[in-house]
Amino acid sequence: AGFLPFEHEPYFDFARAEVAQAQRAAFRQVREQYVGRTFDLLIGGDPAQGNGTFAVCNPAVPGEALWHFQNATPAQLGQAVAGAQAAFETWRFSDPFQRASIFKRAAELLRARRLEFNAVMTLENAKNWAEADGEVAESVDHFEVFAREAMRWAQGKAVYPMPDEHVTTVYEPLGVVAVISPWNFPSAIPLGMALGALAAGNTVVWKPAAETPLSSLLMIELLFEAGLPRGAVQFLTGSDEVLGDPLVDHPGVRMVAFTGSKEIGCRIMERAAKVQPGQRWLKRVMAEMGGKDPTVVCADADLEAAAQGIVASAFGYAGQKCSACSRVIAEQSVYDGLLRRVTELAAELRPGLPEDNAAVGPVIHAASAERIRGYIARGRDTARLVLGGGGEGAFVEPTIFADVTPDDPLFREEIFGPVLSFTPARDWEHAIELANDSEYGLTAAFYSRDPHKLAEARRRIHVGNLYLNRKCTGALSGTHAFGGYGMSGTNAKVGGPDYLFWFLQTKTVAQRY
Ligand code: SER
Repeated sequence: AGFLPFEHEPYFDFARAEVAQAQRAAFRQVREQYVGRTFDLLIGGDPAQGNGTFAVCNPAVPGEALWHFQNATPAQLGQAVAGAQAAFETWRFSDPFQRASIFKRAAELLRARRLEFNAVMTLENAKNWAEADGEVAESVDHFEVFAREAMRWAQGKAVYPMPDEHVTTVYEPLGVVAVISPWNFPSAIPLGMALGALAAGNTVVWKPAAETPLSSLLMIELLFEAGLPRGAVQFLTGSDEVLGDPLVDHPGVRMVAFTGSKEIGCRIMERAAKVQPGQRWLKRVMAEMGGKDPTVVCADADLEAAAQGIVASAFGYAGQKCSACSRVIAEQSVYDGLLRRVTELAAELRPGLPEDNAAVGPVIHAASAERIRGYIARGRDTARLVLGGGGEGAFVEPTIFADVTPDDPLFREEIFGPVLSFTPARDWEHAIELANDSEYGLTAAFYSRDPHKLAEARRRIHVGNLYLNRKCTGALSGTHAFGGYGMSGTNAKVGGPDYLFWFLQTKTVAQRY
């Protein structure tokens, strides 16, 4: 629609000394500019203070408080929803080309500040350089993709004509969208949901995870700088008591766009189903939840490629991705060899500080590490520990269990940490059965060189994102529409061709002359 063909934002090459130096300089700049500061809420376009503040801490350095954010009050939640409703009355009629232009401008602004955004994310959620860079590059992609999608969905769709009526089918926005997002992708995930809402003409109440609010706030300020009307996004931080259920329950909220745990996703789905006094619609819920993502390795596969893919997808960002590989299912004849090679590669991963770009950093907090260690402790009794199992504080070693049976929690439950299980299969068809033996259905990888097996995997593996002969993490906006089956959620497919439909309602107009 008048734009150059889309290209994915290239990653930085940190192996080049001058690029690494620039990233280090960005850490120094971010520390000077932001550490110790207190940031406000944004309500009705204006900064606001809440009822006291809370500290955002560096997961990698116990006790290091980075910056502070406000605790919004219940009254401020009401003001934010009202502000978003007021802004909706103009933004809903905005020219889609204007929306697209704002996103294009935001992409330009973000390109110029990628290293700064990387540094903020690393400090907030302990991604190493490459992981943070992948996500900020994905955010640039989101701006470019949603600019195009805003234009495309403004077109309406053709219907079968009638001789005596002029009939159109067009798409209109819904209203106020509550965007509730997790800490593991603090930039690309809330941005994807918010841009879906905004591209369609909705306005947003944006509630970031308490662990990672600055990654969100910088993105919102960038959107304002690019020309987004300030009321179109309201920014709220604070306790879940004030902003969790009450935001979902609010009768002024038209839609909830959520990404996070299965537990919270189910809770939102249930609460949003209740029509509150004064509410004039049935709320729409987008809930993208967890995964227990398998990698199937057939006997005929390129085992080295499979091993590399497994290690990257299981231990990248300490396994804290809904897309992470957490189950390897391998045909018996290659099981031992694959296990040996994956263990060897995983043992080479050095723990350390994300700010120094270490391969394995800490998990998000010590409490999360404790929960993960609980799985490891129980796993020692039910399976064979072949690597790791240790770690202190928020650090958990890359951990591998072999001979995990399908009834084991290691096989069934989302651990959200660097814990990988190996399970042998009698043959490749049994491997597909085991891969599908999960309530989740987000991503899966399948390695084989046999066209027949690849075709069967394509048909039979029950997931939203299936990757043949490649790893199961790293979906790219615009290319790998992302979202799962089963208890992985509503399958909204962010970055895909139908995503905007989620944020729209369809109007048919029939006119006689
Ligand atoms: N989109 C990310 C991935 O594919 C997960 O949210 O890894």
